[in-house]
Amino acid sequence: QHRVIFDTDPGLDDAVAILFLLGASADIELLGLTTVAGNVGVELTTRNARIVCEWAGRGDVPVYAGADRPLVQPYQGAEHVHGASGLDGTPLHEPAMPVRAEHAVDFIIDTLRREPAGSVTLCPVGPLSNIALALRRAPDIAARIGRIVLMGGGYFAGGNMTPAAEFNIHTDPHAADIVLRSGAPIVMLPLDVTHQATTTPARVELLRGLSNRCGPLAAALLTSLERYDVQKLGQDGAPMHDPCVIAYLLRPELFRGREVNVVVELAGHYTTGATVVDWHGESGRAPNALYLSEVDADGLFQLMADALSHLP
Ligand code: BDR
Ligand code: CA
Repeated sequence: QHRVIFDTDPGLDDAVAILFLLGASADIELLGLTTVAGNVGVELTTRNARIVCEWAGRGDVPVYAGADRPLVQPYQGAEHVHGASGLDGTPLHEPAMPVRAEHAVDFIIDTLRREPAGSVTLCPVGPLSNIALALRRAPDIAARIGRIVLMGGGYFAGGNMTPAAEFNIHTDPHAADIVLRSGAPIVMLPLDVTHQATTTPARVELLRGLSNRCGPLAAALLTSLERYDVQKLGQDGAPMHDPCVIAYLLRPELFRGREVNVVVELAGHYTTGATVVDWHGESGRAPNALYLSEVDADGLFQLMADALSHLP
């Protein structure tokens, strides 16, 4: 069983990832959800995380609010993609479940220090502000992290915020730099993978056709995501980003990639926030990440539908 801290900025695809995670509770133990400013501000991502937990009947999940801005850069959201609420196109309510008093960064540090070394997986699917702040405040945790399995970056596919940079890395590049240099084992699910995991009508139908509440909700979230991306990319469905992290935990054999060196551009004229991936080993820098580049997308959606079928 994986033991996971899920760090997130819901966000439409974040919300689908949370449902996927909760549906996979036989294989994944969720130690806590930590929220960060990203797609929308942290007040809203914290609210949305709780709304999604309540959709799944999981008001017991501990939710911790985290960083309200990137380490250095000014905060900039993605309301143009996810809507003003962060969960546009879904039935929202005021969540009844509490936000824990502890700050997300403290929760991450305390959990890693308390649990056996190597036993906790961090899954960040937003800007890496919380993880970087935790590493800066408590450098000893780097050696205690089992793995960091993150959604972020892009190389072959380019960027989605600028021609060179992906949103999560671009939003807080300094945080990404700290994480990539931390020495913790890292698995990256970049745009190269998520642009293969497209929400084609047949795949979304798998979710909409489930005879529960959460399947159709996940379909609604993905359909809402398409408003923006399908138009922009002109293809049969939008890229589905954050759920890829959960799929990788459950079935790594659905993915392919390489152990490579990855650094973040912090001072480019046109490329700030780009992930520079040494795919051909040209830099002489040691590998610091397993960089995934291919996925069996039909297998991924089937896995997700199976997990979601366990929810109310
Ligand atoms: C990432 O950016 C966010 O908008 C999505 O939730 C995802 O985590 C994709 O670039
Ligand atoms: Ca996200």
